[in-house]
Amino acid sequence: MAKRPLGLPEPAVGDTDISRNRRRGATIGIVTTSSQAAAAILIREATALDSRALAGVLVQSWRAAYRGIIDDDYLASLSVDRRAQGFEAWFRDHPPSNFIRVAVDAQAKPLGFAHGGPARGSVQGTLGEIYVFYLLPQAQRQGVGTQLMRSMARGLDLRGIDSLVVWALERNPARAFYDVLGGRVSDSRETPVGTRRLREVAYRWDDLRTLMAATRV
Ligand SMILES: CC(C)(COP(=O)(O)OP(=O)(O)OC[C@H]1O[C@@H](n2cnc3c(N)ncnc32)[C@H](O)[C@@H]1OP(=O)(O)O)[C@@H](O)C(=O)NCCC(=O)NCCS
Repeated sequence: MAKRPLGLPEPAVGDTDISRNRRRGATIGIVTTSSQAAAAILIREATALDSRALAGVLVQSWRAAYRGIIDDDYLASLSVDRRAQGFEAWFRDHPPSNFIRVAVDAQAKPLGFAHGGPARGSVQGTLGEIYVFYLLPQAQRQGVGTQLMRSMARGLDLRGIDSLVVWALERNPARAFYDVLGGRVSDSRETPVGTRRLREVAYRWDDLRTLMAATRV
């Protein structure tokens, strides 16, 4: 595959979100980590410079979210270094239809990210997928995920996507997030993780506009 320049296409005008959490006022994102809680988060396209931070978010979030669901050994073996290398490679050579957006706090610290693009294995060119969606544990349940999901929906819409699927582990309680945003369980499958075979369920939005409406604040 031809090497592509680092980074992603410039977002369209107005496609970067500065999001205020209206539900919880000025405490979004850093309430448990900083005495100078910020009022706003910024959601922007991720770049190769974010690779290590994205890897850190992924590993921390997995270890917290999947304890008791995925093998302890597997979670302990996750490596920020290896994941960072994986992100660096992705930024060097990824399909232009794929994109990663990152939510950062007022100090520009990444709180979480999502990776999306066309649905894997789908022949329907207008079906999108969010492949990865993780926030730091201390940034969860403060509305950041809802804002990031809205931004992802806009990014997919700009790429001609009109419906969406997201796979989640059946035993992950956080999948309630997708219920709240109007996703409906449309499929399930087993996937090997470590020594276990775990069931995943697919959440689907037949119309991306439903998701846009559900994430409006
Ligand atoms: C799932 C996740 C991305 C959601 O982002 P978030 O910023 O925490 O979600 P929001 O604060 O926008 O939540 C909106 C609503 O979704 C529901 N929700 C979110 N996380 C939930 C959880 N862990 N359990 C149950 N309901 C949840 C709640 O109804 C919540 O509203 P409330 O907090 O007022 O009750 C985030 O919690 C996360 O990274 N979790 C761990 C990793 C993970 O499971 N990722 C998804 C993999 S498929």
